[in-house]
Amino acid sequence: MIIVMLGAPGAGKGTQSKVLQDHLHLVHISSGDLLRENIRRGTALGKTADEYITKGELVPDKLMIDMIVARLGEPDAEQGALLDGVPRTLPQAAALDDALDQMQKKVDSALYINVDDGVLIERLSSRLTCRARGHVFNLKFNRPQVEGICDYDGSELYQRPDDTPETAQKRLEVYFEQTRPIIGYYRDKGVLCEVNGDQYIETVTWELQNCLR
Ligand code: AP5
Ligand code: MG
Repeated sequence: MIIVMLGAPGAGKGTQSKVLQDHLHLVHISSGDLLRENIRRGTALGKTADEYITKGELVPDKLMIDMIVARLGEPDAEQGALLDGVPRTLPQAAALDDALDQMQKKVDSALYINVDDGVLIERLSSRLTCRARGHVFNLKFNRPQVEGICDYDGSELYQRPDDTPETAQKRLEVYFEQTRPIIGYYRDKGVLCEVNGDQYIETVTWELQNCLR
């Protein structure tokens, strides 16, 4: 099963993917986490991606699709995957369909977490992210048990450099311009399910699971 998580920056794609991956026994593939890992390791992809991410812009489609197709070919993704952050443009959505077609797979479900813009900036500016595996916390809405430490793997929590109000605002603009059209793409294919993301995290999870029943 291939599931695509859709929603604006801060909508809760990462938060919900971490919960759903355990329930569904699917690997969570986050394009943002993969890029940040490349930046940390200083790879050529990481160096290029860093220039775009710092400005709140999208990394070029070709780089993203090559990265995701390679990741989908790894053994742990054989049974399927939860894709978080990709596709993010119409060309990426079409390229993903082509690549999945060659693997005799398809997008089975697109889960759209809808949250009003006003809430998003507040969530992003108070977010803390786990250094090791991308678990997400929030100083206002979802605090870790021990300050500065990830509940799940004990690693350090940090603030993503693209979570400053200016860059977050730019990411939202890019989202509305370039990413939101793919909601219609999946709606036309009959695989879209929309939930209200401005509810308790557990309620959102429950509604997303209902989408998949
Ligand atoms: P990426 O890392 O994917 O960032 P994003 O899409 O901007 O999404 P976020 O991770 O910011 O938000 P999220 O929806 O995961 O929310 P979260 O669960 O953390 O991408 C980063 C950059 O990489 C992009 O800007 C781009 O440059 C590049 N990139 C990545 N993919 C690309 C692609 N395909 N093409 C081109 N470029 C690409 O939640 C946010 C906060 O809210 C957390 O603090 C959380 O605790 C809190 N929260 C979550 N749910 C709730 C709730 N229900 N109530 C209250 N608080 C909540
Ligand atoms: Mg995320």
